[in-house]
Amino acid sequence: MLFNEPSPLEVKVLTKRFGLPNSASIETYLANGGYKSFEKSLEMTQEQIIQEVKESNLRGRGGAGFPTGMKWGFVPRQSPKPKYIVVNSDESEPGTCKDRVLIENDPHLLIEGVLIAGQAVGAKAGYIYVRGEYRYLIDILDKAIGEAYARGYLGKNILGRGVEFELYTHTGAGAYECGEESALLESLEGKRGQPRIRPPFPAVAGLYQCPTVLNNVETFASVPSILEMGGKAWADLGVPKAGGTKLTCLTGHVNKTGVYELPLGFPVEKMINEVGGGMRGGKKMKAFIPGGSSCPVLLGEEAWPLTMDYDSMAKAGTMLGSGGVIIMDEDTDMVKAALRIMHFYQHESCGWCIPCREGTTWIKKLLTRLNQGVGTERDIDLVGDLSANMLGRTFCPLGDAAAMPTASIVKKFRHEFEAKLQKAQISMAGAAKNPFVVI
Ligand SMILES: Cc1cc2nc3c(=O)[nH]c(=O)nc-3n(C[C@H](O)[C@H](O)[C@H](O)COP(=O)(O)O)c2cc1C
Repeated sequence: MLFNEPSPLEVKVLTKRFGLPNSASIETYLANGGYKSFEKSLEMTQEQIIQEVKESNLRGRGGAGFPTGMKWGFVPRQSPKPKYIVVNSDESEPGTCKDRVLIENDPHLLIEGVLIAGQAVGAKAGYIYVRGEYRYLIDILDKAIGEAYARGYLGKNILGRGVEFELYTHTGAGAYECGEESALLESLEGKRGQPRIRPPFPAVAGLYQCPTVLNNVETFASVPSILEMGGKAWADLGVPKAGGTKLTCLTGHVNKTGVYELPLGFPVEKMINEVGGGMRGGKKMKAFIPGGSSCPVLLGEEAWPLTMDYDSMAKAGTMLGSGGVIIMDEDTDMVKAALRIMHFYQHESCGWCIPCREGTTWIKKLLTRLNQGVGTERDIDLVGDLSANMLGRTFCPLGDAAAMPTASIVKKFRHEFEAKLQKAQISMAGAAKNPFVVI
């Protein structure tokens, strides 16, 4: 199923099979070059595969942007423990809707990426952890996994080459926290989805305390094309230090919302005006979030000259994140937007560590008051202070995810908070003069 009409400006590497008849089937996959990169990996050493991924400058597509080849290189391959591959298909970050599109349209691409990762680190089993609300994807994945077993791409003796790899799907229960890698591992082990203290990191002690490669769906799905094109050619699709293409989810007040595959370094202005067909109703862009609602918010005028890559966004004080772009036009009520965002993080906080549990709850209370215009000037400062106190002080980055957009909205749109208070005061004063109005 296609999410949207493709754009002629896309560079279709991961999405090249989207739109083909039965694109999710193994027949279509094999007829269009599928599993060739995995077969290539069978002729390569572990070091060669990892080196190719390093050269591609692939950075994790789940949000943090950590270099994938380096992460794979941390796995102690001589360890006598079993090694695992875990796919993060939790995709719960508001604004992000790309992993599901990849799985719906081309599940074998993900399976092939997982198989190559297994070869790279010597893993014989993998798990795809799917967000609870995406339960329907389990059917698609299970069907594709069944096809791969039937064609000899999974199992005890893959393609008669003496290679073993078993792949399983697992569904979460719909908790944003379970997208955080260590909470995901806890959940996959059947425990409550709460984060682990790190170090040790999953590469060394992950699933069942064994060395584990854990990556996002899109990260794994990028790997077959890296082996196909060669790491260097793949890197050249993007910008220095960030290779390849990125599935970008254009959401919010643009004419053509959807998921588009764009090279890293794509200009924001071109993305909105040409790929996205411009701002809805010809309105002005008031605010821009590049990578899911946990990223600091930029003013429209700050965002227009930027490019969609890690360094450009970092220099502007935000993050490329997961590529979940949220565009807000001039009519957006930013106090309400801050409240809506905090409502999500407060609801999704796992409650384990105090700064996150209490911080999100109190900020939400304050934002609710401010949105109703019944707060005070001091409440605005307090929201800023509480956000600053959460940053970097929680077990996992959910606290940061809640604090960063809030702090930036208060800083950049303080006048909107003040205007709400003033408006409420004026109407209260008016009401006080009118004996027929109950305040
Ligand atoms: C609260 C929270 C939620 C997260 N949710 C997701 C998610 O849904 N999908 C994802 O791939 N990464 C998510 N992450 C990031 C993961 O912890 C991890 O960095 C990522 O899966 C690693 O894969 P990558 O290197 O391929 O990006 C989340 C992180 C946090 C703190």
